[in-house]
Parts: sequence; C-alpha cells; structure tokens
Amino acid sequence: MTALAAVVLCAGKGTRMKSEKAKVLHPILGRPLCAYPLKRALELGASHVVPVVGHQAEAVEKTVRALFPDAPLRFAVQREQRGTADAVRSAEEALKGYSGRVLILYGDVPLLRRETLEALLAEHDRTGGPLALVSTTLEDPTGYGRVIREGGRVARIVEHKDCTPEQRAVRESNAGIYSVDAAFLWKALAGIKPQNAQGEYYLTDLVEMAAKLGPVGTVEADATETAGVNDRVELAARARVLQQRINEAHMRAGVSIQDPATAYIEEGVVIGPDTEVGPMVTLAAGTVVGRGVTLGQGSVLTASTVADGTVIKPYSVLEEAKVGERNVIGPFSRLRPGTELAEDVHLGNFVETKKARIGKGSKANHLTYLGDANIGAGCNVGAGTITCNYDGVNKHVTELGDGVFIGSDTQLVAPVKVGDGAYVGAGTTVTKNVPPGSLAVSRTPQTTKEGWVAAKKARRAGKTQAG
Ligand code: UD1
Ligand code: CA
Repeated sequence: MTALAAVVLCAGKGTRMKSEKAKVLHPILGRPLCAYPLKRALELGASHVVPVVGHQAEAVEKTVRALFPDAPLRFAVQREQRGTADAVRSAEEALKGYSGRVLILYGDVPLLRRETLEALLAEHDRTGGPLALVSTTLEDPTGYGRVIREGGRVARIVEHKDCTPEQRAVRESNAGIYSVDAAFLWKALAGIKPQNAQGEYYLTDLVEMAAKLGPVGTVEADATETAGVNDRVELAARARVLQQRINEAHMRAGVSIQDPATAYIEEGVVIGPDTEVGPMVTLAAGTVVGRGVTLGQGSVLTASTVADGTVIKPYSVLEEAKVGERNVIGPFSRLRPGTELAEDVHLGNFVETKKARIGKGSKANHLTYLGDANIGAGCNVGAGTITCNYDGVNKHVTELGDGVFIGSDTQLVAPVKVGDGAYVGAGTTVTKNVPPGSLAVSRTPQTTKEGWVAAKKARRAGKTQAG
C-alpha cells in the first residue's frame, strides 16, 4: 500500500449558517461536522492528517484536538479564503518531506462513506495517474464543477460559472474529493492562477494538469453521500440521513429500534443483538450496550456501559456510568460519572448516584442520593436515604458492607462506615461508624398521647362558648 496523508478543508466561514460559530463546528448527531471526514481519513490509516483552518482557527483546532487526542494531526492555517487550491496549498508546509498519496476532503461533507474512499484509493492505484476523483451524477448540477470527458477520458473540470452552454448540460459533477500524488500536487498547485469567473485559485485546475500526465480515475458516489452543508436546513437534512444510516446498520445487526425516526444513536456506539431501543432514546458517543438490554423511552446515555440483560426504564439519564448485568434502572434514575454497578442491582425512581460503587444484588428503589459511596452486595437502601458527602469544602466517602439494611429517610454523614449485616433504623442521622451486625437508631423516642385529639376539640369548644 502506498503511503496516505489527508488534507481536510475546514477554513470556510459558512456565512449562510448565520452563526457565531464556525460552520465545521456545528454538530450533526452529537459531533461537529468536520469530525466525520477527519474520522474517515484516520480510519483509512492516514499517517498525517492536516485540517486546514482559517475562520475561527483556534476554536476549530481546539475542538478537533480534543476529539482526536492521539491522532497524527498537523494543523495548517489559511489566512484568507482565496479558493480551494490556495486552501490545499497552505497544507504543503505541514506535509513537508511526505511522499505518497494525499486524500483531499471537505470539512463540511459529513456523509462520505469509508467504502467510497477505499474505492477512490483503489481506483487511483489501478489507473496509475497522478490523480483520481469522486464524481456524482446530479439531477440538477447547478453550482457544481462539471466533469468534462474527451473520448470517454476525463479531460478537465469546469466550474459552473465558467461553463459553456454544452458543458452546463453535463450532469456528471465534481464532488470535490480527490486522491493526488504528493509530488505532483505541490508542483501543480504552484502553477495555478486565479484566471476564472470568480478570480479564485481553483483546485479543479489540477485535473486538466493531471490528465496530461496520465489517466484520471473516477469513482461514482451517490449524491446523498457527497452533499455538503451550507445552511441549517441542510445540516438537519444530513443529520437525518446519518441517523437513518446508523439506525439501519444496528437493526440489521439484530437491534430492535421501536421508532427509528426518534432514536438518536451517535457514530461509534456499540449495541449487542436482541437489545430493544425505545422511542426518543439518545445514545451518545462512547456508549457500549450489551445483548438483550432494554432501553426505555426517553433514556439518554453518554459514554456509558450497560451489560447484558439490563433494563433501563424510561427517562433515565446515564453519564460515564458502568452498569452490570441484569440491573433494573429507573424510571427517572440519574447515574452520574463514576457510577459502577455490579450484577442484579436495582435503582428506582429519583435515585441519583455519583462516584458510587454498588455491589451485586443491592437495591435503592426510591428517592435517594448516593454520592462518593462504596456499597457492598445485598444491601437494601430505603426510600429517601441521603449520603451527606459534602461538608462545604471537601467530599467524603460513605461505606456500607455487605447485607446492610438502611431504613428510610436516613442521612449518612460522611466519612462514615456501616459494617456487614448492620441495620440503620428509619429516620436516623448516622454520624458515627456502625459496627457489623449492630443496629443504629438516632431518632428521638416516640411519645403518644391517647385521646389527645378529642381533648383538644373539647378545649376549643369550651373557649368558643365562653367568648
Ligand atoms: C468546489 C469545486 C467544485 C465542486 C464543489 C463540490 C473548486 C474550484 N470547485 O466548489 O468543482 O463541484 O466544490 O462541492 O474547487 N474552502 C476553504 N478555503 C477556501 C475556499 C474553500 O477552506 O479558500 C473550503 C470551504 O470551506 C468548503 C470547501 O473548501 O468546505 C469547498 O469550497 P466551496 O467554496 O464550497 O467550493 P465550491 O464553490 O462549492
Ligand atoms: Ca460548496
């Protein structure tokens, strides 16, 4: 395999987005637009990936670096938007010393499939010329460059504004995606002049130069794949296609999705077979769901792991949580970062956890906060229990052994430990460690005054008569 580098054009302002934010940072299914082409380049094994930034360069660079922390990224800056050839040329310095193929992608074209790019690289290999490109046959190619062939071979690309009437009738259009030999690329770019209707440096001029040296390979892609984003209507339309594509792949792999139009599953999410996804479920990046899991309506999972056979009931929110096998979570549970649940754990409505490790078979079914807590196996945490983990300055840990019973409306003032098999009576404020096997109760003893209600009524009646 020939070496591969990629240049991804991300410098555009995106005026029609009418936004403070750079176009390539607008999210589609949870990730910025430019994350998609960058990901494709990395998947293909590019040894150098050069995002060309310009408009809001710092913000774009910061976001991209955070998204791909370990990727071989080298940023290039295009100060002024002088055309696509000028944009690619600004990547030359970043690729100094590199020889091999350069894949050129647009940061605002999110739906391009890996298979299409693989076909492009294979076509480039097969034809052996200095360049291969992706073309699309469009019903209405207005605005696109036309692929002009002579005797069946690609001769050049002519931009819409520079076309003769006959050229305008050509529907085979340039998608703007190329594989180019590095040595040819830098040499040819240096020779491009802005002599055209728009006074811009056209990258498409490369095609005529390449055609003089060897055959220009083409790969035909579907128009839905090569479509870019110019405004927010197009952004939403591309998101729909991506959503459908992802959902269909999961369904074909054995996942049931009750209402695919309202299931938002981001790229890279893993779901095992026989899992059922309810309506309005969001599964954000980094989420891994096992087999036979039920994800109830309206659940939102971010960077979380859910093991086989677990049921997440409706409207539960999980963030960086690890849920073991056969758990029953929700409805309306909130699992925050650092939550780690073993097997057969039950957490019910309005239960919030944070940095909480909960052992096998333990239950907290109602109205509870468990933060900075290590809870053993087989515990029962009663309704309304609260770990008081914060003293206003520091966070402290609550520890429960195995088989602990916490009565309802208990406060556990951390740091505090409750030993194996201990009981805490309802309404207790636990401030001291409870040894294994003991009972702790802190509430004031109950007093009962029999006949008190009738006596009070009689007193009141007496007063009214006197008055
Ligand atoms: C380009 C092609 C055209 C093709 C079309 C497909 C040229 C001259 N024309 O036209 O043949 O049919 O794409 O969509 O290449 N960009 C920069 N810096 C610049 C100019 C552009 O980073 O100075 C970026 C834009 O942000 C965008 C991409 O390059 O992501 C394409 O630029 P755009 O101006 O949209 O090119 P088109 O006129 O659509
Ligand atoms: Ca465009």
